[in-house]
Amino acid sequence: MPPETLRVPPDQDLVVFGATGDLARRKLLPALYELSSQGLLPRHGDVVGTATTDLDDEGFRELARGAIMEFGRSQLEEGSFAAFAGRLRYIPAVTDPGPKLAKVLKRQRRIIYLAVPPSAFDPILQELRSAGLARGSSIIIEKPFGHDLASARELNSALHRIVPEERIYRIDHYLGKETVQNLLVFRFANTLVERIWNRDVVASVQLTVAEDIGVENRGRLYEETGALRDIVQNHMFQLLALTCMSPPSSFDPEALRDEKVKVLHSIRPVAPADVVRGQYTRGSVNGKIMPGYRELDGVSPDSATETYIAMRLAVDSWEWAGVPFYLRCGKALTTRRTEIMLYCRDVPLHLFEGTGIEQLQPNRITLRIQPEEGISFSFEAKQPGPTVLEQGVRMDFSYGQSFKTQPAEAYERLLHDALLGDHTLFIRQDETEAAWKALQPVLDDTPPINLYAAGSQGPTEAEALLRGGRWHDLSHHVGD
Ligand code: BG6
Repeated sequence: MPPETLRVPPDQDLVVFGATGDLARRKLLPALYELSSQGLLPRHGDVVGTATTDLDDEGFRELARGAIMEFGRSQLEEGSFAAFAGRLRYIPAVTDPGPKLAKVLKRQRRIIYLAVPPSAFDPILQELRSAGLARGSSIIIEKPFGHDLASARELNSALHRIVPEERIYRIDHYLGKETVQNLLVFRFANTLVERIWNRDVVASVQLTVAEDIGVENRGRLYEETGALRDIVQNHMFQLLALTCMSPPSSFDPEALRDEKVKVLHSIRPVAPADVVRGQYTRGSVNGKIMPGYRELDGVSPDSATETYIAMRLAVDSWEWAGVPFYLRCGKALTTRRTEIMLYCRDVPLHLFEGTGIEQLQPNRITLRIQPEEGISFSFEAKQPGPTVLEQGVRMDFSYGQSFKTQPAEAYERLLHDALLGDHTLFIRQDETEAAWKALQPVLDDTPPINLYAAGSQGPTEAEALLRGGRWHDLSHHVGD
């Protein structure tokens, strides 16, 4: 059998609700075009867009062309586009699109992508049910999966009334990233790594998702979200789960997700005192002035929504008990960087004391999720010369240098997997509920907002979470 990544999915239609929106234009249409060009869409199957914009098939094809030209990862090629455009249909969702969709969808099997705000999920699910489209349908939904534990449970029940869990694909696009998938290969395909990957060797772990862009034109939406719901509950907790999970019994999707959910259940409910929230004010990022968050359209002038959040948390598992995990994410920071850093314990004795080496730096493993994707190991080495002087050095693996290819976009991988019916890289119901459960105390008793200037490393108050330690400096060169 060819590798999974090269398999052609079975015949089916794909329906995209919200087909003219930001997500569809920036990610979904370009990803579907790439899959089509590589022969990785079903042999027979339409891509049916629906949204409130009044368009016809031709108008939708033009919109797709524009989206691919603007956001695609490769140049639009006319022959490939003509083949892709031949699949595109459009149904305006001005009034009940269900019956019209039922007429257009010709195949027994179909997958429905809800690329719409969460408030639209319920009416769409009802519409699908009353049009008799629930049978044979799978559903892809985007995060956020609810806005707290209770709403996540409600959403899951609403979905289960329409389709069973085996036909639900909850997308967290971080799982589609090559570097995130490589975390499993790095850990479980190398003899050395798992020997040191636990509380015996690791003293603390820092996870960072730093962005140098602000909230831009998403103010209205972001006011209801904030960094905790936008990034921590999903992207960061998935990174944490993959970092801490035990080896699964196989690479079967359920075996893998069973291990991830065990980690999420082991996260001690996060104490509000261990959380620092921040919001950016006007400042300069990469030499450009960025307006403050409260200056954005749709944002209240006294908004208390966090654009930055940092926390200290504990994973009460056999392997990780006692190891503090420090998570931080923020918008309008000094740089864009997602990384996982494991700081090792100190050596038991400082044998080189009095020889010129006064302070040894702990060994460090850095997983660079993006950009400059790679992995590095930092350790101490003797400087050449007659005296024993140490210097921190590093061994480095870089994707760019080793593989010399451009990795596929996360959405290409995820859409292809969903069409194949492979759940490995999607979030299961219990994962999302366990993640909310751990964060619920912070939602119930929200810590105050601290201001930070755009272009900085976030509020200085976040330093205190490390109790004497330091956050890895984002102004250092990647990996240093
Ligand atoms: C999305 C968030 O899920 O991830 C955005 O809603 C964020 O706020 C984005 O900017 C970051 O994705 P990436 O792939 O650029 O790290």
